[in-house]
Amino acid sequence: MTRIYFNDVVTRDGFQIEPSFIPTADKVRLIDELSQCGFAKLEVTSFTSPKAIPMLRDAEEVMGKIQRVPGVEYTVLVPNLRGAERAFESRADEFNLVMSTSETHNLANLRMTREKSFSGLAEVIKYVDGRTPINVSLSTCFGCPMEGEVPENVVEGFAERFADLGVRGLTICDTTGMTNPKQVAQMSAALQKRFPNLQLTMHFHNTRGMGLANVLAAVQSGITRFDGSLGGLGGCPYAPGASGNISSEDAIYMLDAMGYETGINVPRLIHLARELPLIVGHPVPGQIAKAGSTCDLHPTPDYVDELR
Ligand code: COA
Ligand code: ZN
Repeated sequence: MTRIYFNDVVTRDGFQIEPSFIPTADKVRLIDELSQCGFAKLEVTSFTSPKAIPMLRDAEEVMGKIQRVPGVEYTVLVPNLRGAERAFESRADEFNLVMSTSETHNLANLRMTREKSFSGLAEVIKYVDGRTPINVSLSTCFGCPMEGEVPENVVEGFAERFADLGVRGLTICDTTGMTNPKQVAQMSAALQKRFPNLQLTMHFHNTRGMGLANVLAAVQSGITRFDGSLGGLGGCPYAPGASGNISSEDAIYMLDAMGYETGINVPRLIHLARELPLIVGHPVPGQIAKAGSTCDLHPTPDYVDELR
């Protein structure tokens, strides 16, 4: 059966929108436990300005303290050259560069035009010079919460320019959950056709309840790589109305139940998802951790036996 590769982004995309600082030791423990679940990749943290994202100001410490498990890639978000220098020092396995396909969202999030972002990231890629694989996450590919529609040719245009610079992969982000399965199927087919040699990852948010439907549409269109966040935490602090990523455990549970090979120990993952509210101090959106697996049967009430 088809192998599906999951990247959990809870400690980066998930935590960056949380209101109170999560202690470094909790982040390290959570990443170590995720490492034991069988994820292909974990987005550990972000080497952005600590003033912009205070939650991730402990990036170096977290990277230094996690226990790396062979076979798991530890990726980090890198916004600029300074971030790349820090990521090298922390021996990240992959650098995840980020820019938006919408001019307004790029200005809101990164405080520069898309062209300035592109040339900055091109400089980062030149500086890295093949020493570490590079992924580029393109935000708002399926729509911008401020501008509305982002034309597919704009997304493909930036994808092409990064492909020409030799990046290994692209993550196509639905930053504020604006897409639907039909659009996902169309975009997935178009991108795979045009970029057969790139690792393509889909990054969905469940803002409008279509997260899992979008995962399914992508899988059925041949996509095998996904970002998800434990518990369904997450959201971009610079995108109005942003809310959680798709819940990793819900998406993985669904694909596992359908017979896809995810490499993940699902019971262990569900167990971990149940601990997440204790770390963040509030309930989280994921469903499977609340309902349990369909194999967790409930006792039959006594009166039912009497009626048999
Ligand atoms: N690591 C550490 N510090 C950094 C840094 C980095 N990667 N990039 C910039 N800085 C610091 C600078 O040293 C400077 O500090 P100072 O005020 O003490 O001198 C300050 O940040 C501003 O630097 P500047 O070069 O003017 O950058 P900027 O203000 O244009 O910021 C970003 C650019 C992208 C670094 C910043 O806007 C940012 O980190 N935004 C958050 C993006 C993000 O992670 N969004 C959510 C995920 S999509
Ligand atoms: Zn996101």
